[in-house]
Amino acid sequence: MHTRNFALSASRRAPALSIAHQRLATRNPRNVGAAWRQRLAALCLAAVAAFAGNSARAQAAPKPDWSLADMPSQAGRIFVVTGGTSGMGFEDAKALAAAGARVVIVARNPERGAEAIAKIRADDPDAQLQFESVDLADLSTVRALGARLRDSLPRVDGLINNAAIMAPPERGTSPDGLEAQFATNYAGHFVLTAELLPLLRRSEAPRVVTLSSIAALRGRIDFHDLQSERSYEPMVAYAQSKLACLMFARELQRRSDAAGWGLQSLAAHPGVAVTELVARGPGLDSAQGQQWASRREHYQTAAQGAIPTLFAATAPEAVGGTYYGPTGPMEINGPLGLATVPPAAQDAGVAARLWSVTEQLTETRFPAGAR
Ligand SMILES: NC(=O)c1ccc[n+]([C@@H]2O[C@H](COP(=O)([O-])OP(=O)(O)OC[C@H]3O[C@@H](n4cnc5c(N)ncnc54)[C@H](OP(=O)(O)O)[C@@H]3O)[C@@H](O)[C@H]2O)c1
Repeated sequence: MHTRNFALSASRRAPALSIAHQRLATRNPRNVGAAWRQRLAALCLAAVAAFAGNSARAQAAPKPDWSLADMPSQAGRIFVVTGGTSGMGFEDAKALAAAGARVVIVARNPERGAEAIAKIRADDPDAQLQFESVDLADLSTVRALGARLRDSLPRVDGLINNAAIMAPPERGTSPDGLEAQFATNYAGHFVLTAELLPLLRRSEAPRVVTLSSIAALRGRIDFHDLQSERSYEPMVAYAQSKLACLMFARELQRRSDAAGWGLQSLAAHPGVAVTELVARGPGLDSAQGQQWASRREHYQTAAQGAIPTLFAATAPEAVGGTYYGPTGPMEINGPLGLATVPPAAQDAGVAARLWSVTEQLTETRFPAGAR
């Protein structure tokens, strides 16, 4: 991300310099030759800077065919995966356990938790897995989970903020009075991350990976109606929640850098993957569900959709503050790469405002500044 900004500023500097040199040449004709030489030098400098920016970006781009075979051993590492009972979260838990990690699967339903663990252990009897129940939309349960994990785990090396619901047809509210998608997808993870920060800080190389979506490209943070009280459009509220997740991931990296928490905070999205998200949201019989089903052959499997997250969570070359996803048409599928950061997610001022509004709404404070 820093590299992208660097490339941008390099290309912006070139026209500004050349205009200054044109003015100089116009005022004093004897300077025309010198001015053109300077202009040429400035353009060369800008080209070198842009090249440096591009090569830095190329370094940050992951290997397009990165796969589970590239994942280093995770033996001795402890991960918490929200929504690990189905879809991408299940694939995350399975792959991390297969690589030797101890994985805490966090979701609402203990029966689905037991089924997920049994399924993984059927292939990998030694998998170190446990299930912890939480409703991310109910912040009292998130705080209770935080307390349980702080009592029982020595540290957390990786937190994967993956659980979500998408586009329930009717507006729902959480026990804390928040819109259901805002609460589950974003606010619950905001609080969980704050709860687990002390455990993350005990790790030598802690990572937080937060799931966004290509839906974030259509998202907007509507501070006048953050909880969709005035108008509820299911996909608009989903897009806002996923944009908020992406902004959170980037802002968490900035705050960690400023405060010395030592985190790598990364974001990932799966493209479009065949999971339970549509069936449990708008429903497969809905117009949206039918439209989704009609394009199924273009979608990723859940295992393919999990690759950007697993890269972000484990690859030594993954870079904090970066957003990973598939790079095929419209980023729906395809080889792993850098995902498009929507312009709305690039506004650090809005991200900081969202952070402080969320602290107020959830009555949660991350520790201030001190290292
Ligand atoms: N599938 C896609 O095409 C797609 C596209 C873009 C982004 N994503 C993102 O990818 C992530 C994974 O989604 P998925 O497609 O794998 O969905 P999924 O199959 O529906 O899985 C969602 C998981 O979240 C858990 N969950 C839902 N509400 C919860 C709550 N209130 N508290 C705790 N856990 C809760 C569910 O577990 P329980 O029901 O057992 O609690 C389940 O394990 C999400 O962040 C989603 O936004 C998906």
